[in-house]
Amino acid sequence: MTPNTKQLDQQYIMHTYGRYDVALKSGKGVVAYDEDGKKYIDVSSGIGVNCLGYCDEGWVAAVTKQAQTIQHMSNYFYSEQAGRLAEKLCTLTGMSKICFGNSGAEANECAIKIARKYSFDKYGAGRNEIITLRNSFHGRTVTTLSATGQDVFHNFFFPFTEGFSFVEAGDMDVFKQAVTDKTCAVMLEMIQGEGGVNILDKDYVNALVSYCKKNDLVVIVDEVQTGIGRTGKLFAFQNYGVQPDLVTMAKGLGGGLPIGVCMCGEKLSEVMTPSTHGSTFGANPVVCAGANYVLDTVADENFLAAVREKGDYLEKKLRELPDVKNVRRMGLMVGIEIDGDAHDIAAKCVQNGLLIITAKDVLRMLPPLIITKEEIDEAVCILKSTLEECHK
Ligand SMILES: Cc1ncc(COP(=O)(O)O)c(C=O)c1O
Repeated sequence: MTPNTKQLDQQYIMHTYGRYDVALKSGKGVVAYDEDGKKYIDVSSGIGVNCLGYCDEGWVAAVTKQAQTIQHMSNYFYSEQAGRLAEKLCTLTGMSKICFGNSGAEANECAIKIARKYSFDKYGAGRNEIITLRNSFHGRTVTTLSATGQDVFHNFFFPFTEGFSFVEAGDMDVFKQAVTDKTCAVMLEMIQGEGGVNILDKDYVNALVSYCKKNDLVVIVDEVQTGIGRTGKLFAFQNYGVQPDLVTMAKGLGGGLPIGVCMCGEKLSEVMTPSTHGSTFGANPVVCAGANYVLDTVADENFLAAVREKGDYLEKKLRELPDVKNVRRMGLMVGIEIDGDAHDIAAKCVQNGLLIITAKDVLRMLPPLIITKEEIDEAVCILKSTLEECHK
């Protein structure tokens, strides 16, 4: 690494992240290179963002072409790229309308606003509380931290936004007891990514959604990490056979450019009116051009079938490793229960040329969806030798 890169970072960038001693410089497909030219297999995709890998040629061409045509316009004008993206998302999911932002947290903020305004318009003030799940993660803004069901995030930044309560996942009786006449919505991830790759039970999700529909509670599904093909369907909720009222997404949608989207179903499609929400950069045409390319690629049944098949293959390979106690997985969203400290192992993997992340006490893989079986073999081989090294 050029000493300058680390020195500038340490001197001028706030230390909100613990960094590995690596400065990434370039990448192609699933392979990244650092400033010294060392090669890394990346099974983290920049935390689930680079779903088509690094610098996919079609994506680069779409983004470049749009940057050369018009790079930004305000939301006071119509945008072809934004309209096409919105149509695609609605058609592919049975939803009605979308609202643009720039990140997962913003998409969730938007969903929270829509759920509360729906209830305000229909029932008046006071019915505004939202139930979320223990171990969830919904973002870093003050309101999305408040929505996050982990006490560790409820520090320092008081006062937090009121109106959130938390229940353990998996128990309908507990959920029903938490509902009061002030409850307006529930917000949940089908798989809790940051919370440790915890996959929600299908019967629980179905029971919860039908209870909420009966009681006019808005169902918000946070697909920021699980969306855009990650679980082998375009969205994780499609594995559960439910239809949420609001769906949020970010990460993989832009293929590496910042975007956040909140989608709503018919019931909520007229809730937001002029000046109730907005974002200067939301619906940026360059970002939308990248997202249009990502969706055209990922929302193809053959592509999604390959994600499912490669996920099965990866799980099989992982289960052959003696230190792997269990694999929690859907598609290419993978949590590996391991003998040993996941954070130490991840750090050693990085030194050995494998970019892997953790979630709570599991190793987590979110590889680019275009990863090949040969690359999976290569990644598992580095993990295997790293685990052997840890025993020496
Ligand atoms: C499920 C979920 N929701 C929301 C967020 C926040 O997204 P962003 O960092 O883009 O604001 C994340 C980020 O990891 C996430 O995993």
